[in-house]
Amino acid sequence: MNVMEAIRARRSVRSYEARPVEEPKLAAVLEAGRLAPSAKNLQEWRFVVVRDAATRGKLMAAAKGQSFVGEAPVVIACCAETDNHVMSCGQLCYPIDVAIAVDHMTLKAVEEGLGTCWIGAFYEDQAKAALGIPEKIRVVALLTLGYPKYSEPARTKGRLALDEIAHWDKWGGKR
Ligand SMILES: Cc1cc2nc3c(=O)[nH]c(=O)nc-3n(C[C@H](O)[C@H](O)[C@H](O)COP(=O)(O)O)c2cc1C
Repeated sequence: MNVMEAIRARRSVRSYEARPVEEPKLAAVLEAGRLAPSAKNLQEWRFVVVRDAATRGKLMAAAKGQSFVGEAPVVIACCAETDNHVMSCGQLCYPIDVAIAVDHMTLKAVEEGLGTCWIGAFYEDQAKAALGIPEKIRVVALLTLGYPKYSEPARTKGRLALDEIAHWDKWGGKR
């Protein structure tokens, strides 16, 4: 599978088989995150890999009861140990850097036959309490991981056309 095939095949998976994710596959997904680029190579990402069912249940509650968060055999809390470094462009580094690492992991998961779903709808304080995460650490995302329960053909995703999002040479410029 090449990169574009993985990009096209990836979709948010919200239904998982109960079977666990094999250790080498889990390691491969985490490795893809570890190798992501980051501003100044700060690598502020930290991952709490949750397999324990009771803890996943607490994360489901933190995620406003999204049931598949409790069903997925693995939930990765994608965190940042950060000094809140801001780049010259005015953007905060850590949410961007963690997002890149998460995206690497979602694509590697596809190659491994696994599914993921980025969870942004969660209460950070509850997730931190469930995982014993220190105050200074931020939780940017929860990522569910497991074998997709369904095997529907990949649907056509609702995405804006390139002409709606790309400007050429200047804002408003045409190709
Ligand atoms: C930052 C972010 C937060 C998201 N939060 C949630 C979430 O809390 N629950 C959920 O079911 N999906 C969540 N999603 C998944 C999006 O709904 C999904 O990516 C989008 O609808 C496009 O569908 P696709 O991933 O299948 O291409 C999130 C995605 C992103 C990138």
